[in-house]
Amino acid sequence: MPDVASSRSIYVVTGCAGFVGSHVAERLLSRGDAVIGIDNMSGGKDPAVREANLSVPAGYGGFEFHRLDVRDGPAVTAALAGREISAIIHLAALVGVRASIEDPGAYFDTNVIGTLNMLECARESGPEQFVLGSSSSVYGDSERIPFREDDRTDEPISPYAASKKACEILCYTYFHTFGVQVACLRFFTVYGPRGRRDMAPFKFMDAIARGKPIEVFGDGKSERDYTYVDDIVAGVVAAAESRLGFEVINLGNSSPVTLDEFISAVEGVTGRAAVRVSLPEQPGDVHRTFADVTKAGKLLGYSPGTSLPDGLKAMYDWYAGEGGGRG
Ligand SMILES: NC(=O)c1ccc[n+]([C@@H]2O[C@H](COP(=O)([O-])OP(=O)(O)OC[C@H]3O[C@@H](n4cnc5c(N)ncnc54)[C@H](O)[C@@H]3O)[C@@H](O)[C@H]2O)c1
Repeated sequence: MPDVASSRSIYVVTGCAGFVGSHVAERLLSRGDAVIGIDNMSGGKDPAVREANLSVPAGYGGFEFHRLDVRDGPAVTAALAGREISAIIHLAALVGVRASIEDPGAYFDTNVIGTLNMLECARESGPEQFVLGSSSSVYGDSERIPFREDDRTDEPISPYAASKKACEILCYTYFHTFGVQVACLRFFTVYGPRGRRDMAPFKFMDAIARGKPIEVFGDGKSERDYTYVDDIVAGVVAAAESRLGFEVINLGNSSPVTLDEFISAVEGVTGRAAVRVSLPEQPGDVHRTFADVTKAGKLLGYSPGTSLPDGLKAMYDWYAGEGGGRG
């Protein structure tokens, strides 16, 4: 039986078998806090990847796992009833811009109804803080850079982005109506060990390391503000400890690179040249992302310190060890 009761604070982490969630849970557990993890183990194509992610928090005594679907409101409410929870960190979601275009309904079902159910838990169990894993995609194809939290975000260009914006709006309503304190954190392209198989950093690293071709969408000039997972985790944990009312906060690196530059950096760490296959730009993909992290610095003490070469090196060390054998 996990030793949740004797630990310092109890945090709920949904999506704990995912990329970001497994890192957040690991960080909290490693400093002596308890984590109640919720995940329905549906993410990604390979169940072995989810199991491997989950085995990290599961290696700590303070971890308690519930295999539950966040769409099932009564089940999540029952799992958390009567617990003294410091914060709910809601990261469970259907992810990926391109897949959301195939099935918008599923994205709204999981992301919006799932968030509604977790906010209901927050209302009932009374944790002091709710943290939403939101996304830079809410900025749409904004021309104004860097992206600031008070920029317009009412023109998202994919169902995924629209679902994340809907989650943020719902969070505001729960703050205003029920007093639930919420930090909506807009993550900018997260990469690092245990990185998602469907995202460019893993796909490029895996293909280049194996000498296989990579698919390059567009002219290579699109820009992404790649952010190392440990920096994101530091921001998430600071937000979980904050009591700020309602805030929307960017968590990015504030140092975007072009797709061409990113591929060169991956070539650098793998020591191999990429074989490129050029394809047209994909619907739903924005041209650039670039976070202004001034607000995160002020409110959360956030200061992303990992350079792209250092972060990719750490990711490659993981990939060359346990990470590359799957997928
Ligand atoms: N990784 C990024 O670059 C990035 C960028 C912006 C926002 N985000 C957000 O951060 C969060 C975590 O993303 P990630 O990259 O770790 O994704 P991930 O797919 O690795 O993790 C999501 C987890 O949620 C779980 N899940 C999905 N549907 C569920 C359901 N109905 N009930 C319970 N669990 C469910 C999956 O099994 C998975 O383990 C997501 O909310 C995502 O939208 C991530």
